[in-house]
Amino acid sequence: MMVRFFLIALLAPLVGQANPIERQIPLRSPVITHSTFGGWGWSHCGGAKNIIEVKYVSVEPDPPQRGQDLTVKFVGDVSKTVKKGSWVDVTVKLGLVPILTKSFDFCEQAHKTNITDRCPYDPGTYAVERTVTLPEEIPPGKFLINARGFNADKHELFCLDIVADFS
Ligand SMILES: *[C@@H]1O[C@H](CO)[C@@H](O)[C@H](O)[C@H]1NC(C)=O
Repeated sequence: MMVRFFLIALLAPLVGQANPIERQIPLRSPVITHSTFGGWGWSHCGGAKNIIEVKYVSVEPDPPQRGQDLTVKFVGDVSKTVKKGSWVDVTVKLGLVPILTKSFDFCEQAHKTNITDRCPYDPGTYAVERTVTLPEEIPPGKFLINARGFNADKHELFCLDIVADFS
C-alpha cells in the first residue's frame, strides 16, 4: 500500500488511480544523466525518435520529503499527435527487487495535471505540473522507476528512468 502511494506521488503526472492493467516489461539499470544534489535524477531510455521528447523534470522541494507535498514539473516537446488509447508502462524496483509493474492510461493521467485540454494532444511544447502528498511511511531505500509511454498505434512516446534515494 505504501509503495503504491509513493509511486503515485513520484510519477505524479503519469500515474494515478486509473485501473491498471498488469503487463510484463523489461527491467533495466538506469544511467542517470540529469541529476541534482537531492538524491534523485532521471534519464532518457527511449529511442532517438520518441514522440514526446522530455526536456526538463524538476521537483519541489528538492530533495522530496516524506510527509510533504511534492510538486513535479515536466517540459516536453510533442512531435506527433498523442491519441486516446495511449498508455504508460511503469516498473518500480526497490534496490534490486521489482515491487510493481503496471500500465496506466496516458490521457487520464494527463488530465490530472494542470493542462485542462483533453486528448488528443497536438504537436507542440507542453509544460505540466502536478502536486501530490508524499506519505510519511516511504520505506528507506533506493527506488528505480522506469516509465515507458506508447501511442495508441504502439509507437513509443517516451522512456524515462528515474532514481529516488530515500536511504
Ligand atoms: C502548468 O504549470 C507549469 C509549471 O508551473 C507552467 O509553466 C504551465 O504554463 C502550466 N500550464 C498550464 C496549461 O496551466
